Amino acid sequence: MRIGVDYYPEQWDRELWIKDADLMKKTGVRLVRMAEFAWCRLEPREGEFDFAWLDEAVRMFADRGIGVVLCTPTSCPPLWFYEKYPDAVMTEQDGQRTRTGIRGHRCINHPAVRRHCQRIVEEMTAHYAEDPAVVAWQLDNELEAYFCFCDHCAERFRDWVKNRYGTLEAVNRAYGNVVWSGEYSSWEQVRLPFGHYPSAWLNPAYMLDHSRFASDRAIEFVRWQAAIIHERCPAVPVTTNVWFSEHMPDFYKEFEDLDFISYDNYPAARPPREDAAYFSHAFRLDMMRGVKRRPFWVMEQLSGGLGCWAPMGRMPEPGLIRGYSLQAFAHGADTVLHFRWRTANIGAEMHWHGLIDHSNVPGRRFNEFADLCKTADALGEARGTAILSEAAILFSFDNEYAFKIQPQTEGYSYLEQPRRLHRAMAGLGMNVDVISSGEDLSGYRIVCAPEMYVGDAAAAERLHSFAREGGTVILTARSGVKDKYNNAVMAPLPGVYRDMVGAYVSEYDPIGRDTVSVRFSDGTVLSAGQLCDILEPEGAETLAVYDGEYFRGKAAVTRHRYGKGTVYYIGAVGEQAMYDRVVSEAVKEAGAEYIPGLPPSVEVTVRRGKGKKFYFVFNLSPRETATDIKGRRVSLAPYEMKIITEDDREGAAAQK
Ligand code: GAL
Repeated sequence: MRIGVDYYPEQWDRELWIKDADLMKKTGVRLVRMAEFAWCRLEPREGEFDFAWLDEAVRMFADRGIGVVLCTPTSCPPLWFYEKYPDAVMTEQDGQRTRTGIRGHRCINHPAVRRHCQRIVEEMTAHYAEDPAVVAWQLDNELEAYFCFCDHCAERFRDWVKNRYGTLEAVNRAYGNVVWSGEYSSWEQVRLPFGHYPSAWLNPAYMLDHSRFASDRAIEFVRWQAAIIHERCPAVPVTTNVWFSEHMPDFYKEFEDLDFISYDNYPAARPPREDAAYFSHAFRLDMMRGVKRRPFWVMEQLSGGLGCWAPMGRMPEPGLIRGYSLQAFAHGADTVLHFRWRTANIGAEMHWHGLIDHSNVPGRRFNEFADLCKTADALGEARGTAILSEAAILFSFDNEYAFKIQPQTEGYSYLEQPRRLHRAMAGLGMNVDVISSGEDLSGYRIVCAPEMYVGDAAAAERLHSFAREGGTVILTARSGVKDKYNNAVMAPLPGVYRDMVGAYVSEYDPIGRDTVSVRFSDGTVLSAGQLCDILEPEGAETLAVYDGEYFRGKAAVTRHRYGKGTVYYIGAVGEQAMYDRVVSEAVKEAGAEYIPGLPPSVEVTVRRGKGKKFYFVFNLSPRETATDIKGRRVSLAPYEMKIITEDDREGAAAQK
């Protein structure tokens, strides 16, 4: 396991570089990432490149045995570039150009941006091609599927639509453009979704395509840059760093041409006090691992209190610098770089805290980081070990975009149910893969398929055959609602899933922020909200009924034996306890392995390999706690992460 840091030599004097590099070496830092925003120093004037300062920094780290991750600075063209191409900035939805002075505001579809990005990337990669100190490349920085409304994007979008549908008739049919007289009679009429806010007034099929287009363009940019780097530095792995933002590109496609996943990990500096919220963060780590079902990197890791676009937030409590990094390892990371080594003394992010504060006196958080470096070294043998999961949760970017376009009901969010299902499994100490709904399901015992909303015939078929062959599936409301274009399907819900659910929805009620009670057969009453499917079983057994509203007594949660497997359907968006209950029943029935009786704040993940099992046991609460892990009593201080190693005879036998 390797620990690194993000470092900005261009922001500090050289004398400090040396002191920093010495301290990094002493502390056990193995990697340093640099240069993602340094274009104005790498090409101070058009066509004049200066790598001397970066060479010096690279050498300084290399001489101390610290590997270097270099970044292409393409998220931040210098001002001389914008002076020459003022229209190369992004254009807002109201047609106004954004302004320079921040970062990430270039339009990646502008030809001049491409030309200049190509040149800096070629120069940089050619310069460092033979340098053994460079152990990885990060291209750009947190590239999003931006919505830009410039003429170049309009042109690209029109091409994208033409390419997908071929004829205007086909587009008109796919979008249902007859509504409100929106039928295209020439390609010029295919425009970007200007001006309408909220965009819910716009056609949802067209809007979904626009989101897919924005994602495809970001991915095209990533592939294009990756190809340049791969050509010049074929032996060095290439990545880009992603985060959970408003406009995420489809990560599954984005990483296809990249060598490894990297993710910017900023869990809550002060975890929620309520038990119900504890596991929401691990969901993201499991999703990152699930992108390639391989180990990933954290390229930026929380190191201090946040502050830039919001006022300063709380500092991570004692235990969390170490605990959160180890949590990333526990969920499949093998390298974690902390953002950032030093808190900036200049620039907009000077209140986004790194490991060393403005005072330049290494303090509590730094000391904890130093301790983490030691633990990570000692965990070396866990590197390359696997996370084997019997359970998976399906995620789809089409659904992510479609629910943003039409948010269903007050307070509804696509991620809410996947996270609650994840929390329910994490509460049982299970490893869970959060994977693409496009993935093969073999090897799992239990698959949660929440909100299978936008039509995906292949995914539906995989779920059917998985259940038929003996798997357990948990489906939820808002499944089978749309076709692949994002138009409503004319069939009782859950549409294509009706046969496997063994029930249909006679009516649904989007109750928004209202709540309704749901009564389980043993008398337990739980609360549900947002959206209620009123179910009519046709073969399924009713596990819970509504206990209120005009649909009192109607089925809310069902279970159906389908083929050799079992299908659960959760028809209302319930409180956490509803998912805990259904999941624990499903897990036990499916015969999946779990750890009974874990306190709600304790998360356990297991990595296996090299004849060993590594149990990562993390107390995500500000209170001391104790629990039994495989017959062993484990006491945990507030926010403590303990790693318990045991021999893995079955694993060893399986490996032979
Ligand atoms: C990330 C970004 C970093 C830094 C950090 C803290 O999203 O990649 O450059 O801005 O957030 O704000």
